[in-house]
Amino acid sequence: MVGVHETAIMVISCILCSVLLGFANATATSTYNVVKYGAKPDGKTDSTEPFIAAWQSACASPSPATIYVPKGRYLLRNTNFRGPCKGKVTFLIAGTLVAPEDYHALGNSGFWILFNHVENLVVSGGKLDAKGAAFWNCRRSGKTCPAGARSMTFNWVNNLVVSGLTSVNSQLSHLVINTCTNVLVKNVRLIAPDQSPNTDGIHVERSTGVTINGCTLQTGDDCISIGDATNNLFMSNIKCGPGHGVSIGSLGQNVDEKGVENVTLTNAIFSGSDNGVRIKTWARPSNGFVRNVVFQNIVMDKVQNPIIIDQNYCPNNQGCPAQTSGIKIRQITYLNINGSSATPEAVTFDCSPSNPCEGIKLQDINLTYNNKAAISSCKNIDGTSSGTLVLESCL
Ligand SMILES: *[C@@H]1O[C@H](CO)[C@@H](O)[C@H](O)[C@H]1NC(C)=O
Ligand SMILES: *[C@@H]1O[C@H](CO)[C@@H](O)[C@H](O)[C@H]1NC(C)=O
Ligand SMILES: *[C@@H]1O[C@H](CO)[C@@H](O)[C@H](O)[C@H]1NC(C)=O
Repeated sequence: MVGVHETAIMVISCILCSVLLGFANATATSTYNVVKYGAKPDGKTDSTEPFIAAWQSACASPSPATIYVPKGRYLLRNTNFRGPCKGKVTFLIAGTLVAPEDYHALGNSGFWILFNHVENLVVSGGKLDAKGAAFWNCRRSGKTCPAGARSMTFNWVNNLVVSGLTSVNSQLSHLVINTCTNVLVKNVRLIAPDQSPNTDGIHVERSTGVTINGCTLQTGDDCISIGDATNNLFMSNIKCGPGHGVSIGSLGQNVDEKGVENVTLTNAIFSGSDNGVRIKTWARPSNGFVRNVVFQNIVMDKVQNPIIIDQNYCPNNQGCPAQTSGIKIRQITYLNINGSSATPEAVTFDCSPSNPCEGIKLQDINLTYNNKAAISSCKNIDGTSSGTLVLESCL
């Protein structure tokens, strides 16, 4: 016989257990293995359609979904993973995604693997091999080549985590964050040979709230490049080199550009790179700006231009009618930067005559060339230097 008391307990525990079951259902993750959709881990069979099919199933799942790519090599052509999706999607990659041997196969769309209009996305692990060498050779030979492809691009993706990804030999940039909000990129390795043309590591543009942490970037172009309309970007624990350094720019190619603001780079090592920290703008009229930037706790090892602002970018002296940049650069702090320059001039501030740089601060800088204090040069700039300086400061 069941008393009133026991009944109450049973009712309560039933409510509890259904709450728990409901909770378990809502968080249960469904897994979509690309091999079950026909992908072949042989590196030869075109697996594009099976990957898209797995994506479509995962994307349609209201509960969190994981797309799983087991070990092996999977040949993919241009692959467009399109949202919006019903729930959170995790792309868990144990294998390697490889591009077609013939670079013409990726055509002129500019991307290889593209995520488009997705909320709540995680890309974890994996290796990308875009086989860029033949494409670089085509470009170097001066022949007519296709536009080339960025290896992994995120367009309009919000709440994104990319972690543990390795990318080698991209045709152009390895990883592109474009028009995204709330992004974490961590522990990625992006590798291409020194001198491979336009192989940027990470390119961030038109994005808000991007954190990049713990990355190894060895590329032929910028390790990280930052385009217009980017704000609240935080980069830490970055190893860069070879490559062209961490660059804000090129900015100001167009008149109407949104500015770059609130950018921090902290704890970074640059080894043998062309630049360390660079701000680069076209010598053209523009409404854009760069403001509130901090570069701090940085070690330079034989870097050509450890610290540089170049507002006179005008390749081949073409298309820069005014020959001065409209981009306003202000409140830029360089703090605790040590090491060696590969050239006598470790610090170059070449600001716009029509828009001088303002609020530039150098503090605790020890940059040497041949074991002696390096020199610096200043044009059209207002700023201060303080702290311990082993540098002939022009500020
Ligand atoms: C930049 O940072 C400042 C100070 O923290 C903040 O007030 C401002 O809103 C930020 N700018 C953007 C575009 O978020
Ligand atoms: C730079 O050198 C100073 C003095 O030797 C040291 O205190 C500081 O930690 C060094 N900074 C970095 C980023 O290594
Ligand atoms: C500056 O760096 C050099 C070499 O890295 C080091 O020998 C020297 O002690 C440093 N000077 C200061 C003032 O920290």
